[in-house]
Amino acid sequence: MKPPVVVSVTGAAGQIGYALLFRIASGQLLGPDQPVILKLLEITPALDALGGVIMELHDCAFDLLADVQASDDAQVAFADTEVALLVGSRPRGPGMERKDLLEANAAIFSVQGRALDQVASRDVRVLVVGNPANTNCLIAQRNAPSLNPRQFTAMTRLDHNRAKAQLAEKVSTHVSRVTRLCIWGNHSATQYPDITNASVDGRAAGELVDAAWVSDTFIPSVQQRGAAIIKARGASSAASAANAAIEHMRDWLSGSGGEDVVSMGVCSDGSFDTEPGLIYSFPCHTTDCEWQIEQSWSIGEESRKRMMLTQAELIEERDAVRHLLPE
Ligand code: NAD
Ligand code: LMR
Repeated sequence: MKPPVVVSVTGAAGQIGYALLFRIASGQLLGPDQPVILKLLEITPALDALGGVIMELHDCAFDLLADVQASDDAQVAFADTEVALLVGSRPRGPGMERKDLLEANAAIFSVQGRALDQVASRDVRVLVVGNPANTNCLIAQRNAPSLNPRQFTAMTRLDHNRAKAQLAEKVSTHVSRVTRLCIWGNHSATQYPDITNASVDGRAAGELVDAAWVSDTFIPSVQQRGAAIIKARGASSAASAANAAIEHMRDWLSGSGGEDVVSMGVCSDGSFDTEPGLIYSFPCHTTDCEWQIEQSWSIGEESRKRMMLTQAELIEERDAVRHLLPE
């Protein structure tokens, strides 16, 4: 047996946590021959509920689950962690935008960034799911100065999967036939789901759908999909979010392979004239615990406008949390 990998999950007693932990413990994140130690973080009042989830994890008798530990202390839950999934934070309700959560959630990520800085494995890979995910990721990353900014990412994979599914449905094909589509910018209503470089069965997606459908139906419905789920379910997406978190991290650790791209919120290096340092979603290629931003795409005028609009919102969010961003 290989030595176990330490995976930390915050907000482990929440909705997404419940959809995530069993998949990690069964090998869907790290593979069928990789034992795992789960270190779970919750706030003190949720520890009893988390105890119930841990009973269920034990009751699954997973071959790969080497140990499971719960704590309300980030220094304990992140000790030696190699993979950290930062989910714990308040979800929005009907009528709210994700950035309305900044005030409630931002402080969580400065505390957790500092704890990761102090006790995590030096090779830790971090995914921020809790909203507003890009700016929370920025806060965590800036509070962890001893780690490389490249070790911090925010989740836009759910938007990527939503966009893929909607395009596939429109052209009556299977999602697996859609490639090279991406989400630019913020995980918010300003995100830009972009099909200008996408292919469906090897044909340019733009030849298969008309421009009016893209601007009037596709883009707004991907941007508003989270709100539509909240309206229908009375709670925000959970199973699809957990699935996206697994896919994001699995591709980052093991490589997504091929010509296709995956959307990831990563620290901008100025690619495509974006503002360096923002956590901005780009089309990325992943190999063996690294990501690279796709560089070859040309950007038209309409795309550029949308990319700058979502960037403006990220700058506004960053400026609102300046007090949590050490120089
Ligand atoms: P939830 O309310 O069901 O669970 C959140 C859990 O986090 C709760 O159990 C709560 O006790 C815990 N928590 C709160 N503060 C904490 C802290 N400081 N440390 C550790 N745990 C803490 O919410 P959920 O549906 O699981 O969603 C969690 C977050 O993920 C929300 O912010 C939601 O908006 C976000 N989300 C993001 C995406 C995305 O695509 N990026 C998708 C879906 C949901
Ligand atoms: C989503 O996209 O489903 C999540 O970010 C939850 C939300 O608030 O929309």
